[in-house]
Amino acid sequence: MNELVLNLSKLGTPLYFYEKEKIVSNAEKLKSYFKNLNIFYAVKANFNVEILKIFKEQGLGFEVVSKGELILALKTGINPQNIIFNGNGKTYEEVKFAIENGIEIFNFDSLDQLILLEEVAKLMNKNIKALARIKTLVDVETHPHLQTSIFTSKFGLSDEEIDEVLDNIKLLKKVKIVGIHSHIGSNIKDEEPFIKSAYRVLKISKAFDNIEILNFGGGFAVNMNFKELPKLYNELSNKFKVFIEPGRYLIADTGFILAKVVSIKRGYPHDFLVLDCGMSELIRPALYGAYHPIKSIKGQTPERFYIIVGPICESSDIFGEYLLPNMNLNDLVIIENCGAYGYTMSSNYNGREKPLEVLIYNGNYEIINDRKFI
Ligand code: LLP
Repeated sequence: MNELVLNLSKLGTPLYFYEKEKIVSNAEKLKSYFKNLNIFYAVKANFNVEILKIFKEQGLGFEVVSKGELILALKTGINPQNIIFNGNGKTYEEVKFAIENGIEIFNFDSLDQLILLEEVAKLMNKNIKALARIKTLVDVETHPHLQTSIFTSKFGLSDEEIDEVLDNIKLLKKVKIVGIHSHIGSNIKDEEPFIKSAYRVLKISKAFDNIEILNFGGGFAVNMNFKELPKLYNELSNKFKVFIEPGRYLIADTGFILAKVVSIKRGYPHDFLVLDCGMSELIRPALYGAYHPIKSIKGQTPERFYIIVGPICESSDIFGEYLLPNMNLNDLVIIENCGAYGYTMSSNYNGREKPLEVLIYNGNYEIINDRKFI
């Protein structure tokens, strides 16, 4: 790996690189757990088209939440029937574009978004299917920003709103509500909230007449230890079409950032190691306090702590405290677990370029996205 990394560094740092073999093996692992399910990869986690193509080859569908994500998903040549369009604030233009491009399944989590689907479908004289996204009221152990199905969440229909939807069902001519959707949050390490949530979905599904799809969303942490959940979902798939929409689990641990030390300065309680990579390339530490392992490529025994920071003009631009070998200027480091919500949440803040993206396979590499300025 080190020789390849040195070659990559000649392309300039910081850069993102992804391991194709690992992407394929993650997809295969998930498919082996959830044998009879339809798996829709959540494009928001990483929308590089070359990566999307790998998931398509693996037989996965796509979950998208905007016209932009839909365009990227369609670029893979996937059958639009294997794409589901989610989102709590779809616009008229987005729904029209999606229907024009053959998308058939949409979620909704408010009455007005359901009415929007009906209006556009009517105008275009197309029949579409809708999944009602509900709040399943499960508390999950994750960062508060990543909870999505509690009472105060902006996502999902409350019980009152479900009643409103049920009262209006007879007005629907072109939209058929065929499923219930839930997504309880992200980076969840424990199966239990998924199990609780599934029972709540089942219960609410009984209030509707034509439920054939149960969509349990995404949310699995990378190191999720599956025990009972696959059994439950696989059993339900005897009666319903069961969907899941994982993002992070499939891609997070396949991606890395290669970065370089650009300054070392006195700090308290440890010296600062300033990288040429910061919150503009990876905002997760600043936004969620996320921990990403950072390793030196020197291969020497770690012997001292550094506070690793980025070059951005914000005090929150900090990765954290890390034990590393003695570091020098221009030394290379690898930031791990950057495949999900890394590049897709990167920005041009401080006038910085978007980094290069590189795919590695069979010991070779291919540039899959050029460095871009603004
Ligand atoms: N389905 C829906 C409706 C979602 O909102 C999401 C993620 C997923 C599926 C995929 O979730 P995953 O399997 O990746 O957990 N930026 C945050 C994560 C935000 C997730 C947003 N929704 C982070 O960097 O941790």
